[in-house]
Amino acid sequence: CLENEEYAQLGDDDSDFVDLEYEKSKSLSEEYIHACHGMIFSRSEKILWNTFKLRGCVLMQMRFDGVLGFPGGLVEKGEDPLIGLNREMEEEIGLEVNKHGFTDADHMHTVLNKRKRLVLHFFTKEVSEEEFLVLEKNHLKAEEYGIEVMGIIRVPLFTMSDGLRGLPAFLSNQFIGNARNQLLAGLKHTQLLKREEIEKALESSNKHLA
Ligand code: GTP
Ligand code: MN
Ligand code: MN
Ligand code: MN
Ligand code: MN
Ligand code: MN
Repeated sequence: CLENEEYAQLGDDDSDFVDLEYEKSKSLSEEYIHACHGMIFSRSEKILWNTFKLRGCVLMQMRFDGVLGFPGGLVEKGEDPLIGLNREMEEEIGLEVNKHGFTDADHMHTVLNKRKRLVLHFFTKEVSEEEFLVLEKNHLKAEEYGIEVMGIIRVPLFTMSDGLRGLPAFLSNQFIGNARNQLLAGLKHTQLLKREEIEKALESSNKHLA
């Protein structure tokens, strides 16, 4: 079992990660530490203030350490990654895993950092707009609310007329590990945004950060 401070050191940058097949990752030796995180989202046709296409809701969280990330966490020794993901989802956001649990079909990608012996699994899961609202309300009752999790948030997916406020400004926040890249990959994978829209938001955000 790792000390808490060691946990905080894991996956702190997104260099040195290579893609790995999900099934293959399960036969890695016990030395490897696995972490699973998940992007829960709903789609929406709503237009905000007659101006911005909402596109949908994407759930992220403000972590205890002041940076943004997805709910999820470390998989315990001998625990199946999916079981670990659902356990963390219950602990951190109060997800009712019997009704709304992640399944293997929600797996999006797995990456490996050999040097750090770290395997990161990422999942995306679509729910209805109504379910999303229920999940948001339930998170206040989660065991880790106010401890590991300072609160969940929605990601703005639109960009305002100054080209910065909205998604580009959101991307200028600090994120844990490669969560920022996971968000961008998740938006593309789920087709919540088009590739060009993501690239434009990223460019604008990077210009702001520079
Ligand atoms: P404890 O229960 O306190 O052990 O924490 P946890 O199991 O919830 O672990 P955590 O969610 O902090 O994730 C474990 C490691 O994965 C962290 O050390 C981070 O570096 C990394 N991590 C955390 N959130 C994310 C995320 O959204 N994406 C990615 N890629 N990595 C993350
Ligand atoms: Mn107002
Ligand atoms: Mn946790
Ligand atoms: Mn966590
Ligand atoms: Mn944990
Ligand atoms: Mn914990």
